[in-house]
Amino acid sequence: MGKVSKLKLAVLVSGGGSNLQAIIDACNASDYPAEIVLVFSNQLDAGGLERGRKAGIRTEAISHKGYPGGREAYDTAVSALIEESGADLVVLAGYLRLVSESFVTRWKDKLINIHPSLLPSFKGLHVHQAALDAGVKFAGCTVHYVVPEVDSGPIIAQAVVPVLPGDDAGTLAQRILKQEHRIYPQVIRWIAESRVSVDAKGIVTVADANPAEFAEINPAIEPA
Ligand code: GRF
Repeated sequence: MGKVSKLKLAVLVSGGGSNLQAIIDACNASDYPAEIVLVFSNQLDAGGLERGRKAGIRTEAISHKGYPGGREAYDTAVSALIEESGADLVVLAGYLRLVSESFVTRWKDKLINIHPSLLPSFKGLHVHQAALDAGVKFAGCTVHYVVPEVDSGPIIAQAVVPVLPGDDAGTLAQRILKQEHRIYPQVIRWIAESRVSVDAKGIVTVADANPAEFAEINPAIEPA
């Protein structure tokens, strides 16, 4: 039997890279249909770069600070690196930098992000505190396609966690992060299996998704 080619991922990080690690771990399973070909960071000392290096993945970093030509020129350089890596899908995993509209256009339908809230609630930064301040009883995370408007774009998957008495932003963030680590590799698998489609209204459908798969993503749902 011929070797089935895997979806090639470029993962962009700015920080510790625990989501990157979850994806690296998923890719280590021989039957996982994706592989990371590039880890990129705008922070030269991002912990995620070290995780990439340890896993034997090509890592690159370009500081955005003082980059000549501003955001557009910076993003053009990042796109060139991604192109050179041969990546099919760009995965933003704690990439704490607004991407330019031309970057979004260049990677249209091939650019996904994870955000630690149940979008469309709580876009932007400091979302755990915002959720606590709003008194919501459930919080969670969202994986979505990226469009020019920040933290918008077709929602592919979400996972829900309860807000518990005594939570602060840190404890809530930890509970949500655990779910991020479950849903991001699952979404990448779906995309690699060509099972994700978006209709004209921006509604995402996952083909042949069964209840057990959704239970895998969201423990709130019992498998049938
Ligand atoms: C995650 O909460 C992610 O949702 C947000 O930034 C955080 C990154 O964490 N966009 P890590 O670097 O993956 O640990």
